[in-house]
Amino acid sequence: MCNYIDLNRRKRKFNQLYKYKLVKFNINLRDLIMKKNKISKNFHNDGCLIYSKKQDILDFKKKDIIQIFEKYGIIIFRNFDIDINKFFKFTKKFTKNFANDAQRRKSRDENKNIHEVDYGNNEMALHSEASFSPTWPEIVWFYCNEIEDSSEGQTTFCDGIKLWDNLSLEEKNFFQKNPIKYSLEVPIKKNKKLNKKKWFINSIGSSDALIDWKKGIFKINQIRFAINSCRIPNKLAFSNHTLYKNTDETIKKWGLINDRKIPKKILDKIRKISEKLIYKHHWKKRDLIMLDNKRFMHGRTAYKKSYKRDILNIQTAESNFGYGETSK
Ligand SMILES: [Fe+2]
Repeated sequence: MCNYIDLNRRKRKFNQLYKYKLVKFNINLRDLIMKKNKISKNFHNDGCLIYSKKQDILDFKKKDIIQIFEKYGIIIFRNFDIDINKFFKFTKKFTKNFANDAQRRKSRDENKNIHEVDYGNNEMALHSEASFSPTWPEIVWFYCNEIEDSSEGQTTFCDGIKLWDNLSLEEKNFFQKNPIKYSLEVPIKKNKKLNKKKWFINSIGSSDALIDWKKGIFKINQIRFAINSCRIPNKLAFSNHTLYKNTDETIKKWGLINDRKIPKKILDKIRKISEKLIYKHHWKKRDLIMLDNKRFMHGRTAYKKSYKRDILNIQTAESNFGYGETSK
């Protein structure tokens, strides 16, 4: 005869068994894996860490990942059996076209789409990758190929939704009415035989493009708001380059469209709030991160020069699924 405790024990055992089967056959992934693996309370919806023991990352159903990605904006895949090749294959599943990444970054393994993250070992302030350029990547991917230990060189993340929600009415109003203007100079291959040529980029906010073949420079102005609509309905994200102290070398000048600067008081306040919302990711070898670049900003803490840290980066300029297709 079973008493109440015995019944509960059996029920638990059955649930454990049942759960195991669901994970094994990749059913109801959202309920069983995601809820138990939140990343940080600093993120809207807390982020999602998917931990594996033996699954092949390429076995995931694409639509499951899209749904998780759109809700959380950041997914950390941990403990999967991944190498550089699989990293690229996985990103390709979600990519219509890759971004032409900054030329300063080295390509890896004869694949021009895989790059090392920015050179140097200094701290890097929060930014949304290439948010100042006509092509603003939708997804940024990171893969940890080598890490000595996770106590240095952490990648920092800040959810632009949380940051925006924490700004005062005055700050919100300022960014609602003031777009940011970036004047860019992108290095290109020199051609001494050709003259300067006006160019056109078919993208909102891009203007006055010019190719200076002799100097090997492509000039363009880009105007963009500091806030962006999200994959989540009725939410806006503060995701841009305004906090980037060590500004990207292609940005020659930036500020408001009347050529004034953003008031220091406003930038200081935003920096202060963002510092409270930062999550520092302690890398483990083979961690893969999928990041919504139009919602999240990322940066890096400093590390010693001698320290082994090899984080690879892929940028999806345009994804092959609709913006908010699972959440709107
Ligand atoms: Fe970056």
